[in-house]
Amino acid sequence: MKRKLLDYLRCPSCAGGIVLASVAVVEGAEIIQGELGCEGCAHRFPIIRGVPRFAAAENLQPDKAATAENFGWQWQHFTHRDELYADQFLGWIAPVVPGFFQDKIVLEGGCGKGRHTSLAASWGARDVIGVDLSAAVETAFAATRELENVHIVQADIYHLPFARVFDYAFSVGVLHHLPDPRSGFRSLASKVKDGGHISAWVYGAENNEWITRGINPLREKFSSRLNHRALLQLSKLPAALVYLATKLVYGPLNRSGTGSAFASHLFYNDYLSAISKFGWREQHTIVFDHLVAPTSHYIRREDFEEWWHDIQATEVVIGWHNKNSWRGFGRINKEL
Ligand SMILES: C[S@@+](CC[C@H](N)C(=O)[O-])C[C@H]1O[C@@H](n2cnc3c(N)ncnc32)[C@H](O)[C@@H]1O
Ligand SMILES: [Zn+2]
Repeated sequence: MKRKLLDYLRCPSCAGGIVLASVAVVEGAEIIQGELGCEGCAHRFPIIRGVPRFAAAENLQPDKAATAENFGWQWQHFTHRDELYADQFLGWIAPVVPGFFQDKIVLEGGCGKGRHTSLAASWGARDVIGVDLSAAVETAFAATRELENVHIVQADIYHLPFARVFDYAFSVGVLHHLPDPRSGFRSLASKVKDGGHISAWVYGAENNEWITRGINPLREKFSSRLNHRALLQLSKLPAALVYLATKLVYGPLNRSGTGSAFASHLFYNDYLSAISKFGWREQHTIVFDHLVAPTSHYIRREDFEEWWHDIQATEVVIGWHNKNSWRGFGRINKEL
């Protein structure tokens, strides 16, 4: 944990100031082991392996604990980087462009392995704070510790340990895994200051009936409950089918002049064409990610629009991404 993070922290219980209570191990700019304390309510929060910990697995509700357990394993196993992440990220947060990050104080809700945290930092953000509930923070910390403008924090998106100081908050692929996505979104938005902005990307209900009716019962009752190593092996079979389809059919057809008109009629073409550029490792991650989640909501456009009304955002831009998901961007105008 870098000392600069203290400027942004507030107690998640009482909103009191957070101070460094003790430091046991330091490596360069990072406090590796120590303790934070609240000036208001005397709560203590440990710093373990370089990450301040505001959420302990043993205090979580069972559904949140299961989600954290499964994604924690996922992001400690799939730690690779891919040069295609930047374009994919920009697709999820459009109309935001790299220059938008310049000098901004940025909060990421659910950073996973930190792939977007580091992109935001490389695009000139003053500071980026990546928050995740799970052990994914171990991977995110290892991947970003050398970046002086990145901070990784373990916390629950519903109880964020920050002051309302952010110019921009974003959350990609996280809110639909929460027990109540809308209030998670509101909690994230509540940390953005007046005139700041927020982006969110979520699974759509529309065009995903084959998942909600066909795959979800399997995911809920079977695959998300499987031993992680067993799911890792089992998920190679559907991943291989996706890989063959994207490499032999969707990718080549969509890239060819005459084939692309035909491809537009294929099942789930926009999405499968978009992921066709990725190699085996990333496609396996994507399939595993879908099967491992204990909770996944598929959100209708009208419900997603409600989220933005609820936070009284303005300049809202909602986009239909790959014909299977919703992305939104808007301006925050008042304290929530
Ligand atoms: C599908 S992953 C997406 C990670 C990252 N945004 C990305 O795109 O690479 C969902 C992440 O949300 C995190 N998450 C789930 N519930 C959370 C909560 N209540 N608070 C914070 N993070 C949470 C998980 O631990 C997981 O890392
Ligand atoms: Zn407190």
